Amino acid sequence: MIHIVPATTSHIQAIQEVSALAWPEAFKDILSASQIAYMIEWMYSDASLREQMEEKNHHYFLVTADDQNVGYMSIEHNCENKEKTKIHKLYILPGQQKKGIGRMLIDFALQRAREAGDSAIYLNVNKHNENAISFYHRTGFFLAKEEVNDIGNGYVMDDFVFEKTI
Ligand SMILES: CC(C)(COP(=O)(O)OP(=O)(O)OC[C@H]1O[C@@H](n2cnc3c(N)ncnc32)[C@H](O)[C@@H]1OP(=O)(O)O)[C@@H](O)C(=O)NCCC(=O)NCCS
Repeated sequence: MIHIVPATTSHIQAIQEVSALAWPEAFKDILSASQIAYMIEWMYSDASLREQMEEKNHHYFLVTADDQNVGYMSIEHNCENKEKTKIHKLYILPGQQKKGIGRMLIDFALQRAREAGDSAIYLNVNKHNENAISFYHRTGFFLAKEEVNDIGNGYVMDDFVFEKTI
């Protein structure tokens, strides 16, 4: 049985455990090991997750399957005052992918965005993350623009921005 559970700071360790398994696998052919390590520390340290949850209005959700943590998502309503909900993170454990959980989370994000009064959901995806790009096409997103973001330490995020109208 799949459940989507609102996550708080008490779930930080659970999110870190899932990300530690999902990230290296998702990006092993896309990013260097050092960039993966840098980004995990930047986005998933205790302090960073706490700040996202408590100060940046990122709403986290854990996905459980038969009481095991198998994925997570974070979303922010009215992101950058655009009246759109941004999906900041969406990760499913490798062994749990292609079972419909990602689509379930997109539907959940759409419902939350609608309730928040936003007009669309959107996200950044690495230009070389072909699996995720196929998934976003399949779930009704369109390519809105391209974006390169400097994330420090000599690294950039070279992304597509995908959007889905509500
Ligand atoms: C991308 C991701 C979130 C998709 O979640 P998922 O649970 O595997 O996807 P679903 O099973 O819900 O798939 C939904 C649809 O997309 C399709 N799809 C999923 N992955 C696909 C792929 N790699 N290639 C082609 N189609 C794909 C499915 O076939 C399904 O189509 P259908 O509903 O019409 O049958 C998940 O694979 C993941 O966590 N990947 C690693 C992390 C990552 O890259 N996250 C995104 C960062 S921006």
